[in-house]
Amino acid sequence: MSQSADALRITIDSAGLERRIDELALISEAPAPVVTRVLFSEADMRGRDYVRKAAREAGLTIREDAVGNIFARWAGSEPDLPAVGSGSHTDAIPNAGRYDGVVGVLGAFEALAALKRAGFKPRRSLEVVMFTAEEPTRFGLGCLGSRLMAGSISIKKAQALRDKDGRSLDELRAAAGYTGSLESVKLPSGYYHSFVELHIEQGPILEKENIPIGIVEHIAGPSSYRVTLHGEGGHAGAVLMPIRHDAMLAGAEIALAVEAAAKASGSPDTVGTVGVFKIEPGAVNSVPFKAYLEIDLRDARLDSRSKALSEIKAAAEQACKKRGVTMEFEEINEDPPAAGDKATVAIAEEVSAKLGLKSLRMVSRAYHDSLFMARVSPTTMIFIPCRNGWSHRPEEYSTPGHVASGAEVLAHTMARLAL
Ligand code: GLV
Ligand code: MN
Ligand code: MN
Repeated sequence: MSQSADALRITIDSAGLERRIDELALISEAPAPVVTRVLFSEADMRGRDYVRKAAREAGLTIREDAVGNIFARWAGSEPDLPAVGSGSHTDAIPNAGRYDGVVGVLGAFEALAALKRAGFKPRRSLEVVMFTAEEPTRFGLGCLGSRLMAGSISIKKAQALRDKDGRSLDELRAAAGYTGSLESVKLPSGYYHSFVELHIEQGPILEKENIPIGIVEHIAGPSSYRVTLHGEGGHAGAVLMPIRHDAMLAGAEIALAVEAAAKASGSPDTVGTVGVFKIEPGAVNSVPFKAYLEIDLRDARLDSRSKALSEIKAAAEQACKKRGVTMEFEEINEDPPAAGDKATVAIAEEVSAKLGLKSLRMVSRAYHDSLFMARVSPTTMIFIPCRNGWSHRPEEYSTPGHVASGAEVLAHTMARLAL
């Protein structure tokens, strides 16, 4: 018997979902509690096996594309209609925790399993995606799978990606068993009717305000840049200060310029970070002849992000001129912010209220695969609180109750969208 979404009563198997989160956390390149699962590492490959097993246990049908995105589908009564999508990632940066991304994959499986147990009969198909490489660890570029699905990266640029050992995406995906053409990853237009990603907040607001559900209205736009500086090396005792061309010091000035530009933007949403800074030769008694920096610059608005970037570039050129250092300043990615779909946001909000769960509309300051899904489908995200806002560290934690509430809101939202 089909049921209207409003009359639907579902029960999330919170203990089962926690057990799966724990089991997946043990599949890691580093000992527990650290979770590290870098794209196409042995741990990522075992993680993928675990995801397939969990999808099958939820009664879903699996397909995989040429870059390793895993799709797990429950066919609706009108399977040719655009589907309702959900999902997230299970790759994890070095020294990460167990919830980032994972809650959005295993939580979505549980949401669909709970809908099945409740006898719900979707008209549209429901589909969960485990996106390949949301994290930028391997290739320096985040959201690789969703970027390709949305057609937001050229095939040439994707094929030019190399990891730190010089291995290409094509080489690594072939070794992992993914051999189709990268062109085929792009979704046909109108593939998704709507898309809703469940994720931990990765910030402190929900916990501080004691609100169990966040609903994402905007995702800040990320950009990143690679800066290579060439100076002149030499003996730290013999090369006197007036004649130095120290590449590290030019880099230090650039790092400070990133901080200054972000702070001066006038918007609290502008954030700039130099998270990678390497020097050569890296010896105490040698003047650095080379420096390499990666800059991460984000903003909810493009105009203030562009202004900050111009200031950073001007300061970098000045620092290099002053120090007689040459510079290559290359863009890695410049992605616009995304807006959540108003109607989908409203449905998630209504569903939360009906379940007696207070919700808050939010900006996502981290990026997510939803940044790219929003380009091809009406999209929103459901956030749950995490302890102290911690993420990308082993202490990352969300209570079983919050995880279950997130899965419950996701299940009801997907059910409403599937009618
Ligand atoms: C995603 O992990 C991000 O860096 O926002
Ligand atoms: Mn992450
Ligand atoms: Mn994530």
